Amino acid sequence: MAPVASFRVTLQPSGHAFTTDGNDSVLQAALDAGLTLPYGCRNGACGACKGKVIDGLVDHGLAQDQALSTADRASGLALFCCAKPLSDLVLGCREVGTAKDIPVKIMPCRVQKIERVADDVIVLSLKLPANERLQFLAGQYIEFLLKDGKRRAFSIANAPHDDGFLQLHVRRIAGGEFTRHVFESMKEKDILRFQGPYGSFFLREESTKPMILLAGGTGFAPIKALVEHAIHNHITRPMEIYWGARNRAGLYLPELPSGWASAYDLGRGAAGWSIARYWRTTPTFPRIRSMPAGRRP
Ligand SMILES: Cc1cc2nc3c(=O)[nH]c(=O)nc-3n(C[C@H](O)[C@H](O)[C@H](O)COP(=O)(O)OP(=O)(O)OC[C@H]3O[C@@H](n4cnc5c(N)ncnc54)[C@H](O)[C@@H]3O)c2cc1C
Ligand code: FES
Repeated sequence: MAPVASFRVTLQPSGHAFTTDGNDSVLQAALDAGLTLPYGCRNGACGACKGKVIDGLVDHGLAQDQALSTADRASGLALFCCAKPLSDLVLGCREVGTAKDIPVKIMPCRVQKIERVADDVIVLSLKLPANERLQFLAGQYIEFLLKDGKRRAFSIANAPHDDGFLQLHVRRIAGGEFTRHVFESMKEKDILRFQGPYGSFFLREESTKPMILLAGGTGFAPIKALVEHAIHNHITRPMEIYWGARNRAGLYLPELPSGWASAYDLGRGAAGWSIARYWRTTPTFPRIRSMPAGRRP
């Protein structure tokens, strides 16, 4: 059996580094290593992921001419969504550190699935166009653009590593025009338009401090995104999650936090993971109290 290649990729100016077997694009390998590089279409067409190959060789793959010209290639530029390493690499590129580094886009999407998870909550899955992606940070939100110029904001409930679709948790608002449409007349395959991502609620990954995450009702959506992102990136910070709702049915994905808790305990227990789960069926949150890492209520 041929030995599996292993290439070391170093990013400048940050000095962050990762290894990859060369089967994935530089962008995918960096994202898998928990490093967020800028991108747009992930399809070699928009140029958002363009950066410099300072040292080493890449296969440019399916990079399209309008996004990476012959002159670009000659000057050492590459589209990291298509480029695969052929040797160890030193790459010049900026990393996404804040929400400001991510472009806000207007995009169409198709309603893929409408799941009623409680009387007044729908989980909406939206499919993005095949050749486009929405880069976002876990915890951010989008705004639907309605025909009359109005906008409606909803948090993205999935983590960015699953960026081929968006999941939203929509609570019905009495007398609310848009949410009435979602609950009464929206159909799978409908097309919507949105703008985003927006918002500064996202994980500060450089911090090592414990996290306390509070959610009321569908405010659980951005918390879910954030926790799934933390799990995906093997972030080993203690977390406490408080999810409150008006009634038990309002805790509309009851099994999910239990799954996280056991995933943390099984997979990361030795590294100090700690998820405490609180379920409250009263409209008010419990008082927060300090709790040592590792202890579960
Ligand atoms: C950044 C951000 C993220 C959000 N994320 C989510 C999310 O993930 N899931 C979700 O279900 N909602 C979320 N919301 C709230 C959501 O935007 C509104 O519920 C939605 O716009 C209502 O649209 P509508 O057309 O049905 O109601 P509208 O026609 O806008 O409102 C009808 C009436 O209800 C009132 N109203 C509107 N929204 C609320 C509300 N949230 N609570 C109480 N009264 C309200 C209005 O003042 C008005 O009187 C978010 C809001 C913001 C600002
Ligand atoms: S060219 Fe669009 S993300 Fe790479």
